[in-house]
Amino acid sequence: MCGIVGYIGGRPAYEILIKGLHRLEYRGYDSAGVALMGEGSELNVYKTRGKVSDLERFCSSKDISGTIGIAHTRWATHGEPNDVNAHPHVSRSGNIALVHNGTIENYHVLKEALEIEGCKFHSDTDTEVLVQLIEYVKEKNKCSLIDAVRGALKEVVGAYAIGVVDTTEPDTMICARKSSPLVIGIGENETFIASDATPIIEYTDQVVYLNDDEIAIIQRGQPLQIVDSDNLPAAIDIKTLRLSVSQLEKGGYPHFMLKEIFEQPRTIQDCIRGRVASSGDEVSLSGVTENKERFINANRIVIVACGTSWHAGLIGKRLLQEIARIPVEVEYASEFRYSNPILTSNDIVIAISQSGETADTLAAIQMAKKCGAFVYGICNVVGSSIARATDSGTYIHVGPEIGVASTKAFTGQVTVLAMLAMAVGTLKNTVSKETRFAVAKALRSLPSLIKQALRLNDRIEKLSSTYTYVHNFLYLGRGYNYPSALEGALKLKEISYIHAEGYPAAEMKHGPIALIDHELPTVVIAPDDEMHEKIISNIQQVKARGGSVIAIVTKGDTTIKEIADHVLEIPMVPECMSPVIVSIPLQLLAYHIAIKKGCNVDMPRNLAKSVTVE
Ligand code: F6R
Repeated sequence: MCGIVGYIGGRPAYEILIKGLHRLEYRGYDSAGVALMGEGSELNVYKTRGKVSDLERFCSSKDISGTIGIAHTRWATHGEPNDVNAHPHVSRSGNIALVHNGTIENYHVLKEALEIEGCKFHSDTDTEVLVQLIEYVKEKNKCSLIDAVRGALKEVVGAYAIGVVDTTEPDTMICARKSSPLVIGIGENETFIASDATPIIEYTDQVVYLNDDEIAIIQRGQPLQIVDSDNLPAAIDIKTLRLSVSQLEKGGYPHFMLKEIFEQPRTIQDCIRGRVASSGDEVSLSGVTENKERFINANRIVIVACGTSWHAGLIGKRLLQEIARIPVEVEYASEFRYSNPILTSNDIVIAISQSGETADTLAAIQMAKKCGAFVYGICNVVGSSIARATDSGTYIHVGPEIGVASTKAFTGQVTVLAMLAMAVGTLKNTVSKETRFAVAKALRSLPSLIKQALRLNDRIEKLSSTYTYVHNFLYLGRGYNYPSALEGALKLKEISYIHAEGYPAAEMKHGPIALIDHELPTVVIAPDDEMHEKIISNIQQVKARGGSVIAIVTKGDTTIKEIADHVLEIPMVPECMSPVIVSIPLQLLAYHIAIKKGCNVDMPRNLAKSVTVE
């Protein structure tokens, strides 16, 4: 969480920084700020509570000159979101400014020590401690900014990606990282830093992903230097980005979320491209082919993930167990990391993460590696920390997901898990030829089936008016679609702030049925599958208690049409792939209800897209 961006070069920095902050706003949006070094090396720092647009308004009458600067959009961890706690933070002398993404865990101890030395603090943040510490080290050792940053970071416990400027070294910008992402963009006579590549792509496609414990020294007109914490030169591995600016824009849609929902026919096509043969039953993933023996000999698979990615993991469990016949456990990464897990070198840990930066998932990976397990990643963001920390993996290739609520990443994750199950099942010979054909065919037809499901948009938009003022929702599903119920409920609550719970439909009678009355609508996921008859009984139980039912059914289902209040028809799809199609009406329902309530669906309150804190 929190986004940082920095620039040094020949152009006015302000515009680049503000544009960059807009791109990073998905990482946090409770306050924002910018520090600019103008002519004569004076430092102008402007910061305000609110979104980046509030910062722009605030700066409209200010001196925004300068060709070097750093900026920040915040998701508060220490200290409430207000002007004072917003970044950049400035040292006692006013010379050094710093932006930070991460958490300084030992900031209390450092703060007390600095207070004894006479430092005064103005904010409640852990970050202010770091900038004061840098200045303290610099003054005490009479050293350069880089030496001071390196010295200060040695004292720090925690996670950080930082950008630092100093009026006494006006042509230098320092950045460093540990457990929080930082990308450096290398242009012609100009350099950019950012939490991800989105603020950079407009100017250069040449980037370096900083590694943990590395510090970059960026000097005007000088080649980039990177050193490790012992001041030894580190390798500079320049990568070429495969990203386009148009992928970062709304493309005519009112919100990123809606754009991303509607993109899914294409994103799933991109996800299966080159992996599912255009006919026949062949599904191959290079990550599986390269690690054949590992998958064939795996004792069990443990999936670790958070939020929506965890829901995809639950679907992955069924797919892998059914198709590849490997026992699978699915763990919240945040619980797994503290559970003293029993893992051996014959276990495979699969980490699922859209952003590839989720702190808990990253920590779970580190723990799994320590135990000797083979770690396989399923990520969206290329070059992300999780993608780099895993032994092997598969990208979902759905393009940048900017709306805070995950949509196209979820369907991409489920699709990759289906391909993974097929690739491993084929290797292990645990799947029949008929099933292989059926699943491969279903994978190929996903883009067109999603297109059909998207036709529900207008109907769902109308239907959503009925439910705008409801306070609670229940979502029910079974089998492959129990996780769909969890995911549908999560989508609704995170963007509309309506409380929603997902349940396995058969569990309703063990408690949740007590909630049902005419004020509690229930979304029942009831495609035509093995459980169809049983789920019809659940619908009847809800109706008998005065509850209203929105049912997601397979096209042509006349039985449920007669009992449910609203029926949303999806095309026929094999059961194991149905969560991908079912998720379309669930995403649209959450979107339209939230819009009718006047909520900001792309930036829901209190949330951030990339959760880089515990
Ligand atoms: C919900 C959502 C979150 C994320 C979770 C994990 O819509 O987006 O629940 O799924 O924070 O994030 P990643 O997948 O980036 O690890």
